[in-house]
Amino acid sequence: MAAGQDAAGSPHIPVLLRPLLAAVAPVSGIWLDGTFGAGGYTRALLEAGAERVIAVDRDPLAFEMAAEWAGAYGDRLVMQPGVFSRLDQYGSDLDGVVLDLGVSSMQLDRAERGFSFIKDGPLDMRMSQDGPSAADLVNTEDEARLAAILFHYGEERASRRIAKAIVRERAQAPITTTLQLAAIIEGCLPRKKPGQSHPATRSFQALRIAVNAEYEELFEGLMAAERALKPGGQLAVVSFHSVEDRMVKRFLQERSGGGGRANRYAPEIETAAPQFTVKTRKSIGPDDRELEENPRSRSARLRVAVRTDAPAGTADARSIGMPMLGPQSGAKSGEKRK
Ligand SMILES: C[S@@+](CC[C@H](N)C(=O)[O-])C[C@H]1O[C@@H](n2cnc3c(N)ncnc32)[C@H](O)[C@@H]1O
Repeated sequence: MAAGQDAAGSPHIPVLLRPLLAAVAPVSGIWLDGTFGAGGYTRALLEAGAERVIAVDRDPLAFEMAAEWAGAYGDRLVMQPGVFSRLDQYGSDLDGVVLDLGVSSMQLDRAERGFSFIKDGPLDMRMSQDGPSAADLVNTEDEARLAAILFHYGEERASRRIAKAIVRERAQAPITTTLQLAAIIEGCLPRKKPGQSHPATRSFQALRIAVNAEYEELFEGLMAAERALKPGGQLAVVSFHSVEDRMVKRFLQERSGGGGRANRYAPEIETAAPQFTVKTRKSIGPDDRELEENPRSRSARLRVAVRTDAPAGTADARSIGMPMLGPQSGAKSGEKRK
């Protein structure tokens, strides 16, 4: 079995690896990879000159799969189970932090992990294989909160209709499998036209984000990186959808002195001593070669910034655009990326 390929035969191809390495070169010192996954970034950083990489993942499967190759790096590779929101507890004075957000192909493609609306499996979606699952959420949350999750985390316009159908169906029998849920969602939406994504795409994304508290993790993770990086240390984040990218962009704007206001009602943000300088003025996406090699990379965006010597501070989740589960009216969909 090739490294980075699991028993289900699903290779995880690291996205934006070439532009990432080019943006952070030359690589040296101690790096923390907050999303180890199949280890693609970690290995590339070690090969590119990192003295040591602290590899963090919340999914125990990631470390099980690395067992066959990790030994070759000796104590240059430190495997650290955990969440990246606490990355400053795993390392300090770091030369670099890298976050490659979302799920890995190994997680997505294994039906038993419950992320897929194509393959039937238990309605799980927990990256950490621990805590409340998507089935717990779908079978217990009240209708208004379910609708808010689908709308705010999935930008699903039919959120209320889908939430109503879920509550109606679960009164007959608990919803326990991915295909059961996908069928309920499909029943609420117009038939998919050629070239359109599967009708359950947005709802499954929303539930996954809620189950894994992905936005809270990202917000806390960015601040933890600010605390853990040494002056001159680099932060590189790869995001997969517009809301994540917006949070990273605004965080870096605010922390690099270009914050201004999140909206016209928000207070002006203090920009006296910026904690970062931004290296990538515009986000970097895949080039044609990568798109051809790996179509899953199409929505990936990379942003890189360098830590200054200003003391770390605290950010405001709302001002960097973290979606809140408030009432549905007035919520914005993802803003255009720059
Ligand atoms: C897109 S994959 C990373 C792939 C990796 N860059 C590679 O090249 O193989 C994302 C990984 O991050 C992990 N993950 C997601 N959110 C996390 C969090 N908040 N804390 C720790 N790990 C997380 C997932 O379990 C998954 O293994």
